[in-house]
Amino acid sequence: MKIAVIGTGYVGLGTTAVFAEMGHDVVGADADQAKVDNLNRGIMPIFEPGLKEMVLRNMKGKRLKFTSNNREAIQHGEVIFVCVGTPPRATGETDLKYILSVAKEIAETIDTYKVIVHKSTVPVETGEKVKKIIKENLRNDVEFDVVSNPEFLREGTAINDTLNPDRIVIGAESERAVGIMKQIYSSIKAPMIITDIKSAELIKHASNAFLSTKISFINSVARICELSGADVEKVAEGMGYDKRIGRSFLNAGIGYGGFCFPKDVQAFIKIAENYGYDFQLLKATNDINEDQKKYFLKKIKDKLKTIDGKTIGVLGLAFKPNTDDMRFAASTYIIPELQKSGAKIKAYDPEAMQKSKEILKDVEYCNDPYEVSAGADAMVILTEWNEFREIDMGKIRDLLKNPIVIDGRNIYDPEEMRQKGMSYASIGRSDA
Ligand code: UDX
Repeated sequence: MKIAVIGTGYVGLGTTAVFAEMGHDVVGADADQAKVDNLNRGIMPIFEPGLKEMVLRNMKGKRLKFTSNNREAIQHGEVIFVCVGTPPRATGETDLKYILSVAKEIAETIDTYKVIVHKSTVPVETGEKVKKIIKENLRNDVEFDVVSNPEFLREGTAINDTLNPDRIVIGAESERAVGIMKQIYSSIKAPMIITDIKSAELIKHASNAFLSTKISFINSVARICELSGADVEKVAEGMGYDKRIGRSFLNAGIGYGGFCFPKDVQAFIKIAENYGYDFQLLKATNDINEDQKKYFLKKIKDKLKTIDGKTIGVLGLAFKPNTDDMRFAASTYIIPELQKSGAKIKAYDPEAMQKSKEILKDVEYCNDPYEVSAGADAMVILTEWNEFREIDMGKIRDLLKNPIVIDGRNIYDPEEMRQKGMSYASIGRSDA
């Protein structure tokens, strides 16, 4: 099937690659000419495991190409996937300007029946707005369908999540559109939920809001664990065996970051507010998440007594492992706060240092965890990269000026750290 993907950000680029891999004929469009030139040369704008290989393979197989001309892509696609950004406004509301401007461009371009599919996270009733704009701006008397097909991929596992999704959600108003969507996904084995557009839009916001709430819940439980002397890892394990609860997204830490959860929670609060409903639960989810970062900062300060003049080594800058994404990463809050208190920062991240250099200034970027710890007064863990689990802690202890590790992701065992002579603090467990 001929597919257009408008917007080649985290969701759009993965979508182009996976659809081409399924055998569809895909054109990806992005307004950023430099990005498109790089893509056509095989240079990826982001780090995502497996993405580059898949893009290159399909470009070579002539099933995938990129253009900076949206109209060229729109003309190509029988189905047009809209994956442009839905950034937050200062108020927390979703800014739909890119979605609505693409809708107008589609209306002005199409001269035959097309299915226009939204993959980006959008507020409920966006489909209605898009339909209205397209109708008002159509240049040719053609039929079209608007579909909501939200994407649930996680950064770092985007390719696998897209090829093996837990479910495929299709919100559509016509049998014709549903039939086409089924055809697109025919090679994927996953439950398919066919529903109306508004329900599909809500499934996405409700899912992200629920997962965020799970994280804030366990971070609150972690506080009780610290106060009572219990172990949050064991509590989460014990809860997780209950099939109604599940173990995933019960990892206590420095709170959720990235470009989805923080903005989607705030947007959902605003959506509710606009309908006259006060979504108190989500407000608490958001507040607890904000507080968790401050709490972790206090933990560092308590452990070190004074920050002024200290050198603090930081392992992990990205908002989570297996990505170079720094958006709403805990590091973008913790590091400037430590600097404000007079600390000198040394840091290492396996993938995010390039992006970090644009955001975090006056940081000494290092080549590995050992260089970070050399001469530092303490080491702080902000992202749970696997390679940090494997480091030689004895060597780190000897390199550090003081054997202090403050771990925001609970990647080490407190008892083992004690045995290695480390002064260790983590989340929801007794200090070693
Ligand atoms: C999320 C959703 O999982 C995905 O379905 C949606 O499409 C986009 O948003 P992503 O932002 O890539 O994906 O990352 P995810 O793995 O969900 O983690 C989000 C944040 O929550 C990260 O900062 C992570 O560190 C944090 N988190 C996650 C926890 O603090 N504890 C957990 O148990 C799980």
